[in-house]
Amino acid sequence: MSIKLTWYSHACFLIETNGMKLLTDPFLEGNPLAPVRADAVETDYILISHGHGDHVGDAISIAKRTGATVISNFEIQGWVIAQGIENAHPQHIGGGFDYPWGRVKLTIAHHGSALPDGSYGGSPAGFLFTIEGKKIYHACDTGLFYDMKLIGEEGIDLAILPIGDNFTMGPDDALRAVKLIEPAQVVPIHYNTFEVINQDPHAWARRVESETSAKVIVMNPGDSLEL
Ligand code: NI
Ligand code: MN
Repeated sequence: MSIKLTWYSHACFLIETNGMKLLTDPFLEGNPLAPVRADAVETDYILISHGHGDHVGDAISIAKRTGATVISNFEIQGWVIAQGIENAHPQHIGGGFDYPWGRVKLTIAHHGSALPDGSYGGSPAGFLFTIEGKKIYHACDTGLFYDMKLIGEEGIDLAILPIGDNFTMGPDDALRAVKLIEPAQVVPIHYNTFEVINQDPHAWARRVESETSAKVIVMNPGDSLEL
């Protein structure tokens, strides 16, 4: 079985594997780069990395319509249930869980996590997936941190890293992240959605490929890749 990842822009991916669909940080409505409407997405699971509006996005409406199980930290899980969602699985930093499609562990992320209504959203997280023997690290929103080296020790097949700057790592620190993680492949995200995070992903790709052994895949919103 292969793993298919489709980028819906920003931090949102649809991951298809073993006949199941997972959706990360579904910010679609109000996102100028989103290639799909929230009401057209089908999924079995929704993962929320932190409470900010450009990550919680349309999670509640999609979960209500599809019955998808929401995976998040404990604090966001409580908020999700308070919004009327029945299926929500809480995890927390450092903890992994085996789902029917594979495993996800929540990693640290240096960022904020207040929810759109001001509720406390706990600690922001990244996702370390183990699916079909492949390791995918989706850093979500974070600054650079040296413990990315520990994540890299797990042997990362694909790293998904923000390069937008301003709210997260910019191109310079994302390049340093690649050097710490040493992934086989890397996809840049969280850029060009808003003016303050405009970046040239191709220029970044050239730098990464000249200074590391990682292969950079620059995706356009709606593009897919297979692992
Ligand atoms: Ni954020
Ligand atoms: Mn964000």
